[in-house]
Amino acid sequence: MAFRALPQELIRAKRDGQALSPGEIGELVAGIADGSLSDAQVGALAMAIYLNGMNAAETVALTEAVRDSGEVLAWRGLGPGLDLPGPVLDKHSTGGVGDLVSLVLGPWIAACGGYVPMVSGRGLGHTGGTLDKLEAIPGYDIAPSRERFRKLVREAGVAIVGQTAELAPADRRLYAIRDVTATVESLPLIVSSILGKKLACGLDALVMDVKSGSGAFMPTPEKSRELAATIAEAASRAGTPTTALLTDMSQPLAPCAGNAVEVREAIALLAGDKRDGRLLEVTRTLAAELLLAGRLASDHEGALALLDERLASGAAAERFARMVAGLGGPADLLERHDRYLPRAPIVRPVHAERSGRVTRMDTRAVGLAVVELGGGRRVPSDVIDHAVGLTSIAALGEPVDGERPLAWVHAASEADAERAASQLRAAIEVNDVATGDVTLPTLIQDVIRREAP
Ligand code: URA
Repeated sequence: MAFRALPQELIRAKRDGQALSPGEIGELVAGIADGSLSDAQVGALAMAIYLNGMNAAETVALTEAVRDSGEVLAWRGLGPGLDLPGPVLDKHSTGGVGDLVSLVLGPWIAACGGYVPMVSGRGLGHTGGTLDKLEAIPGYDIAPSRERFRKLVREAGVAIVGQTAELAPADRRLYAIRDVTATVESLPLIVSSILGKKLACGLDALVMDVKSGSGAFMPTPEKSRELAATIAEAASRAGTPTTALLTDMSQPLAPCAGNAVEVREAIALLAGDKRDGRLLEVTRTLAAELLLAGRLASDHEGALALLDERLASGAAAERFARMVAGLGGPADLLERHDRYLPRAPIVRPVHAERSGRVTRMDTRAVGLAVVELGGGRRVPSDVIDHAVGLTSIAALGEPVDGERPLAWVHAASEADAERAASQLRAAIEVNDVATGDVTLPTLIQDVIRREAP
């Protein structure tokens, strides 16, 4: 990269609180992607952005530059018969515990006429990752060739895969350097990192699920709200209409957390064995927003009616089955998941120390209990045990006693189960109160819609 201004002069300008132009940001990001900026310069730039922030125009320019630092998938203008006949749609979540929305939403949108090229990530910290969950399915290939990926998106309407080296390469380097320079928690860096990867998939519309509460990535509800608003604004200004939902993560979204256990939950929902609960409500609301943004429905009621019909008819389940088989998993996973999904050798209930109602949860600690069972990674090289996790996790306000446990632990050993039991008892607060005394959090706290300019 040949810089018009010395990179250190651009870093100096940001360090001193000046705004950078889109051209200057473009040069810096190109230098991150091609290695002409040194690690020291990238770290210094990240710290200057962390300390001084970026205005809205800079955040958009950074997002666009990260998006354009590698391949940007194109689904149109490919020639007769090659263009996708429907909108290209996707969803991203800031991550949580028991958040298996993607597993259900992708196939559900496909069953309604959308196309979902979903590039997902692995578990991070206390949160689970969609790729780790899918790898609980024997044979599922999260890294297919580009041709296979494109073919599956066209034929099944959905493919959930891992990031490739070609998509937003500037983010991979920048994120790794942020991770070791105490610069992860910066709004413009988070927004451009998340969106740069997503928008590189050539989307017509995006829906973001920004979590708020004790299991959320952002430390306070105010910061979650700020992230939701900034992300919707930046993505839309970068040309992709985006709706951000602010949703509750002060308890696990599904009543389970882990990898195979969450795939089972997704199958139960898609197969119609479970039709209520917070997971369904959040997934259905996010999916309705996508159908509206993609013009697959003309109003909210129409979107919900279409979704309900495609779930009840089994069309969404059928898309999931096609995606799994298309990526190397068993063709009969839905009918015979017990045969394929791993089960832990120890499965036992964890009872609270006293009877009462669940009044509060440290959702982050619940997620960390799953990580310590082996369901997540402490260091990137850790190998995941897909069988372990938690099921039947009691919800806020639910009574627990000698009969109804806090949850069931699925563990590799008695010692692991014992440790997880102690962690759960510490993470889930139980008090002797009446039903009405527990204030239940609002599940969908805000919807922020932004059209592209
Ligand atoms: N997830 C990302 O992909 N990037 C961030 O910066 C934070 C969360």
